[in-house]
Amino acid sequence: MTQVPTPSLTLTVNGQTIAVQAAPETPLLYILRNDLALNGPKYGCGLGECGACAVLVDNKAARACRVPVAAVVGKSVRTLEGLGTLATPHPVQAAFIAHNATQCGYCLNGMIIATVALLHRNPHPTETEIRTALRHHLCRCGAHLEILAAVRAAALVPA
Ligand code: FES
Repeated sequence: MTQVPTPSLTLTVNGQTIAVQAAPETPLLYILRNDLALNGPKYGCGLGECGACAVLVDNKAARACRVPVAAVVGKSVRTLEGLGTLATPHPVQAAFIAHNATQCGYCLNGMIIATVALLHRNPHPTETEIRTALRHHLCRCGAHLEILAAVRAAALVPA
């Protein structure tokens, strides 16, 4: 039996051009975590339902567990690691820190990515728009009030 060679795919992740060897249908999340050591995106449900794996694809939030890696060729992928640094966090990260908007932290990646995507398309969201943007991101600890406070605060920072 002839073995099909694994193709090389060229990705743009956090501003860097990277070649990976992967079957085209491999979930983007596996490539980010296993091949590129970008562990901001988390594996939660693997079904596109919890939001823990969210990343930005061309500035829109996407569930990396459900996106085949081939679908992001030619697009810009940004992960939590590409937003800010410990020394200079992104304004949304800074707002989450300032408002203690976490407990276990597992949902935090998705909450922050969803907030960055929201503020990119709508810099001044209403309370309803904030809640709608985050409603499919599951937090099991119950940090919702602090998370909402952080998003409201981030929306007040000039973009
Ligand atoms: Fe992707 Fe839950 S791990 S949505």
